[in-house]
Amino acid sequence: MSDLQIAAGNSAVYAGRRARLDQLMQRGVAVVPTAPEQARNRDSQYPYRYDSYFYYLTGFPEPEAVLVLIAGDNGRSILFCRDKDVERETWDGFRYGLERAREEFHFDESHSISELDALLPKLLADQPALYCHLGSDGRWDERVLKWLNSVRAQVRTGVAAPAAIHDVRALLDEMRLIKDAHELATMRRAAQISTDAHRRAMRAVKPGRAEYEIEAELLHEFRRRGAQAPAYTPIVAGGANACVLHYVRNDAVLNAGDLLLVDAGCELDGYAADITRAYPVSGRFTPAQRDVYQMVLAAQAAAIAAVRPGAAWNVPHDAALRVLAQGLIDLGMCEGSVDKVIEGGDYKRFYMHRTGHWLGLDVHDAGDYKRDGQWRELKPGMVLTAEPGCYIRAGDGVPQQFANIGIRIEDDVLVTASGHEVLTHAAPKTVEDIEALMRG
Ligand code: GLY
Ligand code: MN
Ligand code: MN
Repeated sequence: MSDLQIAAGNSAVYAGRRARLDQLMQRGVAVVPTAPEQARNRDSQYPYRYDSYFYYLTGFPEPEAVLVLIAGDNGRSILFCRDKDVERETWDGFRYGLERAREEFHFDESHSISELDALLPKLLADQPALYCHLGSDGRWDERVLKWLNSVRAQVRTGVAAPAAIHDVRALLDEMRLIKDAHELATMRRAAQISTDAHRRAMRAVKPGRAEYEIEAELLHEFRRRGAQAPAYTPIVAGGANACVLHYVRNDAVLNAGDLLLVDAGCELDGYAADITRAYPVSGRFTPAQRDVYQMVLAAQAAAIAAVRPGAAWNVPHDAALRVLAQGLIDLGMCEGSVDKVIEGGDYKRFYMHRTGHWLGLDVHDAGDYKRDGQWRELKPGMVLTAEPGCYIRAGDGVPQQFANIGIRIEDDVLVTASGHEVLTHAAPKTVEDIEALMRG
């Protein structure tokens, strides 16, 4: 299927989301821009990635585009986008242009992006509210204020300016939190590609290989299967590097006897997978590595078991933490009772992050974790990660056999009506399955 057919096939989904936002706004104008292109250096751009909020509402992949959604009287959806340009298309490739974009993506109107500043004050006139996002991009904020001031300057002619400004992302965050069928289908495919990439990476691991060679296996599988990019910079961290939480250099050689931590997931049609596994470079866990691994695996199982509708956000984290605290006591790395280790925070020497985050268009996806001061309840359609870990640095005064063991086990979990579904279950994670795969 061509890009055009895919876009056309899904445009009803995006139109449905715009209708939903209309309902939530009731009256007013929403203005949602896509992301700007970013220069990497002279004449060279970073690979383009659209803004997630804009894409969620449009499916439109081109840069230089803004969605304007008018709710209430005379309600309509308007896309501002690039004009057709034969000269530019010769260099950079296809552009939809105004007419085709309007038709294919089901907008009521389309205008040239060059008309945005001229038309916005007209579209905001006599509207009760503006829904936009301010505070992330100073140049965008300035433009929005100019449009508003331009309407305000006309008040003596009887034109009313929007009296209220709301953060459109507050509405969209809530919508994005519950994934629809189209999103879930895409996330399942992203999960499948990413689990296969982990299997491929596991098979490629051996002493003497470099971390980047394993990274190359992951990226190869992502692209081979049509994923556009990694959803975030892969972490491929051997030995002590696994204890650096955001290690991305990926340039060290893998040593026999070390563990390798791999945190990598693809982005497919905008949606992220986020998977971490740890495997022994030599194909077999040492007894100490196995002990720590089994502890993290048990913590993850407790977190996943706690994912169900009605459970508060922090319940999976608390469940994982209790298992980790007990495990650290059993291994002699923390002292006292589980409650004391948790309340005193002693575990934080070995576990310094939380157990998960929302997942979707962004790897750390949109959505609040608390509402009115309370952890929010899980609901069917939410997707979160379960990713406890344990990072034992050599300098932490631990027995030698535990030094430089860094383990995180991360899966992507959908909340279902009856409990949960692990979208990334196909990436091996028991000691037996990992060792068998590496042997094979
Ligand atoms: N890979 C990013 C994270 O696990 O949060
Ligand atoms: Mn994660
Ligand atoms: Mn991750």
